[in-house]
Parts: sequence; structure tokens; C-alpha cells
Amino acid sequence: MCGIVAGLAQRDISKILIEGLHRLEYRGYDSAGVAVIDPAGELRRARAVGKVRALEDELREAPLSGAIGVAHTRWATHGRPAQHNAHPHLSSERVAVVHNGIIENHEALRGELEGAGYVFTSETDTEVVAHLVDRELCSGLALPEAVNAVTARLDGAFALAVMEQRNPELLVGARQGSPLVVGVGIDEHFIASDPLALLPVTDRFVYLDEGDMVAITPAGIQVLERTGDRDELTPVTREVVRYEHSVEAAGKGEYRHFMMKEIMEQPRVLSRTLAERLDPQGVRLEAFDVSRHSFLAADNGAEKGKQVVDVARLTQLFADVRQVQIIACGTSYHAGMVARYWLEEVAGIPAQVEVASEFRYRERVAAPGTLFLTLSQSGETADTLAALRDIQKLNREGPQAGHYLASLAICNVAGSSLVRESDLSLLTHAGPEIGVASTKAFTTQLVALMLTTLALRQAKGDGQTDDLLSRQLLMRLKDLPHVIEQSLALDGEIAQLAEKFMHRHHTLFLGRGSQYPIAMEGALKLKEISYIHAEAYAAGELKHGPLALIDEDMPVVAVAPMDDLMEKLKSNLQEVRARGGQLFVFADPEVSLKAGEGVHVVTVPGVCRFLAPIVYAVPLQLLSYHVAVLKGTDVDQPRNLAKSVTVE
Ligand code: G6P
Repeated sequence: MCGIVAGLAQRDISKILIEGLHRLEYRGYDSAGVAVIDPAGELRRARAVGKVRALEDELREAPLSGAIGVAHTRWATHGRPAQHNAHPHLSSERVAVVHNGIIENHEALRGELEGAGYVFTSETDTEVVAHLVDRELCSGLALPEAVNAVTARLDGAFALAVMEQRNPELLVGARQGSPLVVGVGIDEHFIASDPLALLPVTDRFVYLDEGDMVAITPAGIQVLERTGDRDELTPVTREVVRYEHSVEAAGKGEYRHFMMKEIMEQPRVLSRTLAERLDPQGVRLEAFDVSRHSFLAADNGAEKGKQVVDVARLTQLFADVRQVQIIACGTSYHAGMVARYWLEEVAGIPAQVEVASEFRYRERVAAPGTLFLTLSQSGETADTLAALRDIQKLNREGPQAGHYLASLAICNVAGSSLVRESDLSLLTHAGPEIGVASTKAFTTQLVALMLTTLALRQAKGDGQTDDLLSRQLLMRLKDLPHVIEQSLALDGEIAQLAEKFMHRHHTLFLGRGSQYPIAMEGALKLKEISYIHAEAYAAGELKHGPLALIDEDMPVVAVAPMDDLMEKLKSNLQEVRARGGQLFVFADPEVSLKAGEGVHVVTVPGVCRFLAPIVYAVPLQLLSYHVAVLKGTDVDQPRNLAKSVTVE
């Protein structure tokens, strides 16, 4: 989705902005642009459709330079991908705006501005912001006040960076519903929608709160909070946070694609997600972080320099949980579906899983004692965030309206909106995930979900009786990175198998029990990056429709670990074979399945049935990766998709 990078320095900023745009490319976009105020005081702009490379070509023909600038990658929402719709948008050749998100009331505002004589040059919702700011400046307001007055009139979720030609020493940012961070440098400061954009120039960031504005001048950074019915701006202090990953963590290293690098990183990041979270008694509740205002924060937490969780309160809360409502989108939703099996069987707690875009728009009934659990790699997915905000609103309205005990986010980005707005969070330590198709974020989410399941089981126990299942699962979890390493060793075999898929147009994925969501994730991966139509079915549903599709042109991928459902799955596979279907089975060494005519068996390392979904996800990631490479698609930035879906 759209990306913002902007800055004010004491040197030419154009190269920093372009490098920042390259670093935002992974999010998915269709055009890019940059504007600077040049040394002669002129507002100059360049825009191009397509990749940032196309913008660079344009800049080679007509270079831009200046100490202040705003830049953007656009993912079209209002108006097709075209140069005239690309950001930055200007007004009266003196205001330049870049914008993420959607201005919902843009049509009414456009009418009003046209009535006032403004001429629009794009179909975007963004252009209204540029003209509105211009109008406020004309009425005599300074830029921060003008931006504040304008944002007060905007409906929707957005992040903005704005500069004014007459004031080349002032850059203004505003955050309302879309992420925005301030990069703190030495005598130079920046704004971006994602810290990754700025890693070459700083590792210190201020994460703006909802509704914050920031004014950057050569004297420094001033974060402004809107008070008094939003028309007053009051300076506030926000913490400067050091970014914990290195610049290299966001690079491709020796790999051809980020996706392969991220698949291969899994043993290491799974270890990191487990590290320091287990002790001989079980899961350490200190692993859960609390947000600043959470009722679960320890009273003396702030004195220790970091807000920490009150373990006694959290134990009580977990003991009170009667149901878990899981909300997520895309790959994260599949992780939630796996967790449902674990929560019900391991913790004995009923669980429901729903995609955020459905949950947020329907009338719901929450059972008393419901824990609201969101899953998100980015922590910025618009629908997931909206679902969280919706249940928080219900909770505020009183017990008749909502019964959610607390909100817990399992997320890969510390400081993201989801983490900051939830009562509790459990971070996955996958490191930056750049490939649009999620891999390491998914398996680390599963590990975090298993830790949560065990923590809930612990809280329900009496703490005395020996809990054999927990002990076994903890042991197996510690061994998991090693098992994942073994399944990565299947890479060569899977690369060969991929050749059998590259000319197919459809693929069916089958799984049963907690492997059904893994079949869904395998199908999602294949369609995302190889553009092969892929569908997943719970194998027991085969006879209720999909069997009609089976012929020699329809490869069928099955996930077959050793569990109680194995014999039933085998019967389903016979049904496919009997109709001439080509089978590709990822199977446990103990599953006696013979390869032969039309049956390809890949033996996956043996693993306990609870952790099998994590292990079987890996060969399916490798399969889609190799099919995509053979087909020559854009593996890391597949067409039409975005890494972080920050608009509805
Ligand atoms: C997009 C990405 C997916 C991701 C989904 C949810 O569709 O392309 O890879 O699974 O968003 O994102 P989240 O950051 O909330 O996990």
C-alpha cells in the first residue's frame, strides 16, 4: 500500500527520499513521486507510473535537489495508476502533500473547493487536502495550524506529510488512523509511514500517537497534540525508541528473493520468539507486554523504565477466560484457525476465528469472559485495527454492549498501532518481513499462539498437579527450530517437484484437522506469488463438490502428518487417485504411502501432532516459491497485492 517518506536536512535530501521509496517498495504500489523545494526556493516535482526505477529514470533526465522534500509510493484507490494521480499533489504551486489512507468525504470537499475556484488535476482524494491547506494558508494560518484545521474536516483514516514553498524550513506531518513515525537524526529529521524507509539515516524513532501532529524545523522536532476540541495544538513529549533490527535485517543478503531469505530464517526467528519465554514451570507471563494505559500494567512498572505486566493480575485474567475470539486477515487468519484447534484441545477453551473485514460489520454477541485476540504481522492492517477499536468502543459503552475481558495482539512490529492500542501484546520476533507473501511471520505467530495456549492452560490449572501434556509440548517447542531446519533441507526435492506445477492452471490443497488451515495457507501462497488458481478443502468435504474437478490436469496437494485422521485422509486420497488425479503428498515418515504412478510423496520430518502445522507449513512455502520462480513472476512483490493493507 502507499508509503510516505519525507525529511528536512542540511544537505540534499533527494537521494535519501529515493532510497526510502525503494525500501517501501515491498509494500506494493503502482506509481511514485517526489517533490523538493530547491535552493532557488522553487517547488519542484517528479512523478512516474510503475516502479521507483522509472522515477529515477525521470530524475536522471531532470534532476531535483533540495534540503526539504516529500516522497510517496502510491497504491491506487481513487483514480487509476497514472502520472497525474501520483503523489505529491500540489496546490497553487506552493503546497505539496503526500498522503496514505482514504479521505472518505473527499467528494463533498472537492465540490466546495471547486466552488471556491480551485482547479483539480487528479481524481484522487488527496488533492482536496492540498487545496484545503492552501486555503487555510491564504487565510493567514501558519502551516501547522493550517494542517490542523484541515484534518479536523477530514473523515477517514490517513497520514500526511506537508510542506510549503514559502517556508523551506518547516515540514509538517499528521497521523489519524494510518501509521506515521518520525526519524530522529543529527541536525536532520524525517517522517515515514514505516521505519524501514529510514534505516540508512537513523535508527531512532518517535512513534506518533493517534491524532498527533509533528512540526520539523532545523531547531528540531515538535510533536503536537490536539486539545480543546482539536483546534489547539499543545506540544507534548514522546519517547524516542531505538529500532532493534539492523539495516542488514532489511536486506536480501545472499538470496535472490526476500521470500527465500525469510523462509530460510525460520529456525533462527522461531528460536528468538521462544527465547526467554519459557522456564521450567511453563510459559513466563512476563513475555506479555502491556500498553501504557492497560489495566494489566504493574503499578510500579513505569519506575522500572518500561511498563511491565502485573503477573498476578494477568494470571487472574487468563483464569477468567471462557472464550477466545480471534480476528485477523490473510495469512494471519490461517494462523488463527490453527490456534482454534489448540485452544480447544490443549487449553479447553472454546475459540472462534473470523476475518476482520466480516467481524467488524456484523451484529455480534460476545459471551461473557471473551478474550479478544488479534493477529497481525504489521500491526497496521486497517480491518484488524478497526475490529479492535470497535470492541473497545463497545466495552466503553458498558457491560450490556460488550463483554470482552481484554484485548491481546500477537504482532511482529513493536510500536505498531495494534500493539499500542491493545491491552496486552505478545511480540513475534520474526524481524522485518519484506516479501509480500508472509512466511516467517506466520510460523512465529503459530509459536506465539502455542505459548498463549499454554499460558491459558497454566492459568486454569491448580499449579500443583504434574501437567504432562504441557511439559511435553514445552520440550517439543524447544526442539522445533531444529525440526524446521530438517524440513528446509527438502528444498532441492521440492524445487524439482515444482516443475510439475508450472504449467497447471489450478491446484487443490487438502488437509484435515489442524492441517486444514495449513492446506489453506499453502493454497494462498501458491495463488499469491505464482498466480495459479488454488483452493483448499477440508479433505472430508471432497465428496461434496470438489471431486467433480479432479482429472489428470488438476494436481492435488495433501498434507498428511501422523495423527488420528490419517486413515481417513488416506481414503480421501484413494478417491482422488481413482479418478486419475495427480497426488503430491507431504507425509510423516510413519505414514505408509507408496510413491508410484501419479503419487508423489515428500517425507516431512516426524513431529508431534500439535506442532505439525508449523512444520508442514514450510515445505508448502518452498513449493509456491519454486513454482513462482519457474514461472518468472515477481516473487517479492506480486501483482496487485500489498504487504500492509492500511486501507479498507
Ligand atoms: C496482506 C498481506 C498478507 C497478510 C495480510 C494481513 O494481504 O499481503 O501477507 O497476511 O495482509 O496482514 P497482517 O500484517 O495483518 O498480518
